[in-house]
Amino acid sequence: MLTLFPEVFGPFVGASIVGRAQAAGKVEFAFTNVRDFARDRHRTVDDKPFGGGPGMVLMCGPVYDAYEHVRSLHPAEPQLIMLTPQGERLTQRVVEELAQAERLALLCGHYEGFDERIREGLQPREISIGDYVLSGGEGAALVLIDAVVRLLPGAVGCEESVADESFSSGLLEYPQYTRPRAYRGMEVPEILVSGDHGKVAAWRHAQALARTQQRRPDLLGPDGKAGCDSGA
Ligand code: ADE
Repeated sequence: MLTLFPEVFGPFVGASIVGRAQAAGKVEFAFTNVRDFARDRHRTVDDKPFGGGPGMVLMCGPVYDAYEHVRSLHPAEPQLIMLTPQGERLTQRVVEELAQAERLALLCGHYEGFDERIREGLQPREISIGDYVLSGGEGAALVLIDAVVRLLPGAVGCEESVADESFSSGLLEYPQYTRPRAYRGMEVPEILVSGDHGKVAAWRHAQALARTQQRRPDLLGPDGKAGCDSGA
């Protein structure tokens, strides 16, 4: 992680599935504070845009130097990801691709944006988590980390639960229930307690399809079936 705010990552990467994956040695994190690579005594990392206009722009020097430092930490060449609202949309398909990488370097911006020569010279893969603007890339990096780490083999207890869920199948998830069978007058559908695994599977598929048609018809192909691009 290349960031101006490394402190925001600690509690998140230490908790839940990401924390367990880390403890089990399935993933390792290292944090580089871009400000440590500032070149003046005020530790400046941003400056006014040439041509005028509001806001500040993240400077080339500290980012290039921080990235060169990150590269030197490990022999594997990292795939550099820049978190920016201008990037390609993060989908489950992109997450699956990133989960194959041996090493990722996530570059988080702040202020108005990056000096364009950071894109030109470092050629990052630019990723956006959605069509809204965050005050920095850290929130987006946390989203990406969570989605990628849970796909690492052995990170989630039950592999099936990863394969079966929304988006992996191209459909939204079917409704789930647990004990008690009746709660405030609402009953668990009879079929789920019937013990007939075939009927349960057929019911779940029909529910997932209906829910997808109703809520996210864009995920379905023109024939109303799940498309193969599960991350649509
Ligand atoms: N930085 C600011 N907004 C962002 C977004 N929507 N996605 C990724 N990085 C960002």
